[in-house]
Amino acid sequence: MIFRQLFERESCTFSYLIGCDVTRKAVLIDTVKSEVDSYLSLLNALGLTLIYVLDTHTHADHITGSGKLRDATGAQTLLGEEAHSACVSQDLHHGDELAIGELTLTALHTPGHTDDSYSFILRNNQTTYAFTGDTLLIGSTGRTDFQNGSAVEQYHSIHNHLLNLPEDTLMYPAHDYNGRTVSTIGEEVANNPRLQVKDAAAYTELMNNLDLPNPKLMDMAIPANRACGEN
Ligand SMILES: [Fe+2]
Repeated sequence: MIFRQLFERESCTFSYLIGCDVTRKAVLIDTVKSEVDSYLSLLNALGLTLIYVLDTHTHADHITGSGKLRDATGAQTLLGEEAHSACVSQDLHHGDELAIGELTLTALHTPGHTDDSYSFILRNNQTTYAFTGDTLLIGSTGRTDFQNGSAVEQYHSIHNHLLNLPEDTLMYPAHDYNGRTVSTIGEEVANNPRLQVKDAAAYTELMNNLDLPNPKLMDMAIPANRACGEN
């Protein structure tokens, strides 16, 4: 397996390149439009053919590179069915399995940050990888106060799906604002302050009192991302 974690500084977004080293097929998760040329150079340097471009959800803080990458490579763009995006090649549904050559990525619907939030799970040899989008962040969770967010749904998404993964699952989020790059499910269970609540009601109380400002790009990013970053 070929794996690269990429970082866009302005929005502190992580993008992920996963490739099959046998078939040279690859997927990109959570791309940023301004970085598309660097993704294309990397794919070229590694001899990979991009077949899927996934977004974990409709982002409010950056513009996706999915449309530009699809036009450049012919890859399929995928986003959760709840996004009702007319431009995607295919909708994602809970439990969908995407083949990337000999690798399989499983999509889990993990709503709460947005109603169209998905996490992607990959098992390779003895290692499990979880790409958790903004559902579960390192030492935090994604806000739930806009884009049909729901603290109750997020609590259940995290506790019923993500925390059921093996403790040593490598957890890769869509963002980190403090320089961290990876965690494990076990570390998050032990240390993430948002997971130290007794039930969904206590979690909702915590999330309802965060009092966060809106993301800078929100008004233009959400409509643009429903159009694969191309309006
Ligand atoms: Fe987000």
